[in-house]
Amino acid sequence: MSKTISLTRYLVEQQRKTATPSGSGGRIPPELRLLLEVVARACKNISHAVNKGALGSTLGSVMGSAESENVQGEIQKKLDIIANEVLIEANEWGGHLAGMASEEMEGIYAVPNRYPQGEYLLLFDPLDGSSNIDINVSIGTIFSVLKMPEGGRAVHEADFLQAGNKQVAAGYCLYGPQTTLVLTVGDGVAMFTLDREQGSFVLTEENVQIPPDTQEFAINMSNMRHWDTPVRRYVDELLAGKDGVRGKDFNMRWIAAMVADVHRILCRGGVFMYPWDKREPDKAGKLRLMYEANPMSWLVEQAGGASTNCKERIMDLQPGRLHERVSVVLGSKNEVERLTAYHHAHVNAL
Ligand code: F6P
Ligand code: MN
Repeated sequence: MSKTISLTRYLVEQQRKTATPSGSGGRIPPELRLLLEVVARACKNISHAVNKGALGSTLGSVMGSAESENVQGEIQKKLDIIANEVLIEANEWGGHLAGMASEEMEGIYAVPNRYPQGEYLLLFDPLDGSSNIDINVSIGTIFSVLKMPEGGRAVHEADFLQAGNKQVAAGYCLYGPQTTLVLTVGDGVAMFTLDREQGSFVLTEENVQIPPDTQEFAINMSNMRHWDTPVRRYVDELLAGKDGVRGKDFNMRWIAAMVADVHRILCRGGVFMYPWDKREPDKAGKLRLMYEANPMSWLVEQAGGASTNCKERIMDLQPGRLHERVSVVLGSKNEVERLTAYHHAHVNAL
């Protein structure tokens, strides 16, 4: 009988991996393991709410309430709010966190004084791809874990403003035909499928690898006329297929949920782009750096792929604001490097 490895067992093994005889120096500290288990439990609850659909009064927008738009100016769906509350309620009392930040909240959420304060910070997009909720198409939760720069004091927004290369854990939970939790703690990427009968996440893929070459790309083509020259050049070449400079045909996919597009790329390669465009020149991009681009970038890099903002590595960007936006190009390494090189060539030619 092949052995089943639960998320709990995987994390315990991660905790023991490099532990010294004195018991310290494990790859992940026990507090981080427990925190990740709580996040996974919250994702299970969100998955349950998502699955109820029209039967659970969870579809539709938050109408006629002061909360109907989030800090990004986007309409909040009922499930956005529910997922946000589930994550906060599950995580605030465990003693592992000092604070949380979410796409759905303008400021940070400091863990209330009535609970013990921990040394970690949790950031999340509670429900990515919200426009898919009401049409029964894949959505997900994205999360990133950072350490408090220093303990023994109240948490401030500035504590969250750390580059992606400081993350200690990152992942997402995809609510699709299956519910899949994808995680990295800096030791490769592992995928866990929710076994609904057992109520637990089971390891179904380890050491995920993104092939360096691909014949698949993902971009919202309706924005083509707004793109910058290097993006246009790159996509034009893909579209020219066999007859063009690339000498091969490319296929296109766009699910309109980053979590689902990135999952496809982790499963079979590809390149995902949401670049800066000319519609709002002062806006760096559409996606958020701290709880969308950073966690996805770390997963992609851990799987052998690359992630840039067309100029530099996303994980090296120093965030200036909690809800900062960024241009994103990630996936199969050779494609990401090609588009980044087109940007450098364009800037040098100016
Ligand atoms: O979170 C923003 C997001 O919903 C991503 O998940 C997705 O990739 C993108 O926006 C879709 O944007 P658009 O509706 O412009 O295609
Ligand atoms: Mn999102």
